[in-house]
Amino acid sequence: MVFKLLANKIGFPWGSTFSLVKTKTGILQRHFRHQNLNASSKFGLQLASSRSPFVPAADYHTSNPVQDKGSQNAPSSNIEFAIVPKERAGIISRFLENNYHKTEPITIALGMPENEIYGWFPRFINAAMFSSVCDISVEAVDVTMKKRIAVLSSIIRLPESVSPNPSDFTDPAKHPVNAQMNEFFAAVDKGIDPVEILGFRKEGVVRPKKLEHMYMVVRPEYAGQKIGSRMVSLAEAVAQNINNCRVGYAYATSEFSYKIFSKHGYKVVNEIKYADYVNKKGEKIFAGKEALLGPHLSCRFMVKELPCMFGDT
Ligand SMILES: CC(C)(COP(=O)(O)OP(=O)(O)OC[C@H]1O[C@@H](n2cnc3c(N)ncnc32)[C@H](O)[C@@H]1OP(=O)(O)O)[C@@H](O)C(=O)NCCC(=O)NCCS
Repeated sequence: MVFKLLANKIGFPWGSTFSLVKTKTGILQRHFRHQNLNASSKFGLQLASSRSPFVPAADYHTSNPVQDKGSQNAPSSNIEFAIVPKERAGIISRFLENNYHKTEPITIALGMPENEIYGWFPRFINAAMFSSVCDISVEAVDVTMKKRIAVLSSIIRLPESVSPNPSDFTDPAKHPVNAQMNEFFAAVDKGIDPVEILGFRKEGVVRPKKLEHMYMVVRPEYAGQKIGSRMVSLAEAVAQNINNCRVGYAYATSEFSYKIFSKHGYKVVNEIKYADYVNKKGEKIFAGKEALLGPHLSCRFMVKELPCMFGDT
């Protein structure tokens, strides 16, 4: 059975349909089909008994895993978005290993060696996705080319729960570059609690769940098509509309992701310029790395209050 949800009640800013699909394996999947952008697009909630035209992205992988390694073919504009179930954490971590870790400014600037990623990263992604209140990571698929082209790895953390962080999975002795990154991110967020900074600690108010955008990457040949932006919209829509998640936050390490989160209403609560950063040993770890950082000048810790859909909590 296919439940088709047209999305104007949940406020997607682009023309999309949202389908819950029961697959052969019994997994309930959420599929979002990107349609032509049209200012007059109307969204609403409806049930339909038709079969979704979406082919589950996982099928591309099981039938042709090479697709994640990149393609020389020209990108098409026939893009679909889907929420990725936690059972596919391996696909998310593989895609990020092959794409995010080769394009993200800090990873490049610090010269992250491959052997510092493969050991811990899949375990972290797996643990993070299974600890999330619900499935919230997003993938984008070029339907014409039959390949995955982008991933936003997000999780929803419960207010008081201790859910996994990269530092739980990395060993400073074995992963010195990761240790530098972890120290850097701790300096960027300064221990700020995004829930608290938004004023949710008032007496009698239930502390809200938090949506954390952890990793986002779009294949370079698809850059600038708002695919990153749409993935954030989708994760937010599911977080706030289905999970009543009230807080979103991210560490924007690139100027491009900063633009995306700014346009979604995230505010910078702390910013560190790469050129100014000095670690605890007194080292300027980004000095001389300007060429590798390119146009990316700083990392910003960004926070947003998501609208409440179910009345005041
Ligand atoms: C960050 C990233 C996911 C953005 O994806 P995207 O789909 O290209 O983003 P969008 O199309 O929504 O563009 C966001 C903004 O960045 C700009 N932008 C994106 N790629 C660009 C490029 N290569 N050159 C110049 N500007 C670019 C867009 O023009 C847009 O700016 P605008 O709103 O003023 O028009 C992508 O650049 C990426 O994968 N980078 C490598 C990994 C990374 O750094 N991830 C972010 C870590 S927080």
